Amino acid sequence: SAKAANSMWAYKDFFVAGVGYTLMISAVSVVLGFLLGTLLALMRLSKNKFANAISVSYIEFVRGTPLMVQILFIYFGLGLVVNIPALLSGIIAVSLNSGAYVAEVIRSGINSIAVGQTEAARSLGLSRGMTMRFIVLPQAMKNIWPALGNEFVSLIKESSIVSIIGVKDLIYQSRIVQADTYRGVMPLIITMILYFIMTFGLSRLMKFFEGRMTHE
Ligand code: ARG
Repeated sequence: SAKAANSMWAYKDFFVAGVGYTLMISAVSVVLGFLLGTLLALMRLSKNKFANAISVSYIEFVRGTPLMVQILFIYFGLGLVVNIPALLSGIIAVSLNSGAYVAEVIRSGINSIAVGQTEAARSLGLSRGMTMRFIVLPQAMKNIWPALGNEFVSLIKESSIVSIIGVKDLIYQSRIVQADTYRGVMPLIITMILYFIMTFGLSRLMKFFEGRMTHE
């Protein structure tokens, strides 16, 4: 009803703060996840058996355990040793999780570049490292960018689980509004709409930039 919507408007600052936290956690984590994922992908593709084993184990383990448990482990487990604030714990856990998923994105992006490119560069005298850096990676990025955008969209939704350690994201805020207004459903409807605006808006934005890239 109009009255319910009215009472929700009084809580707009809560929703705005929640959207802010959710976007911030997802954006920081996708950037850190990209850095970690690049490192893991290069380790996985390297000839060094040790680096390779570490990378494969990390990727498999992180993707084979729930993000929820990883978040609880960073906050309460590591919390026994060093006191990490909830927000920082959440960002660390989501970034460490994202790195494993991004590593696979980058690995498949690199593998999609024809071996002829590497062979040509190597026969011209470029080292393995230079070939990767100047020939393969720049071309691979064309396939990797859109997948990273998808990862950002995933993190906007998946990061909602940080609310269990008390990070003040959108889910946490909607719980506060529910408790404060005694309204169970209206805050959830608003929360869903806000998540949808974020994910839909972001994917439209990505399509726009992808379109511009192909016209170059
Ligand atoms: N919800 C799943 C989990 O708890 C998937 C997490 C997805 N993470 C990602 N970085 N895309 O493990």
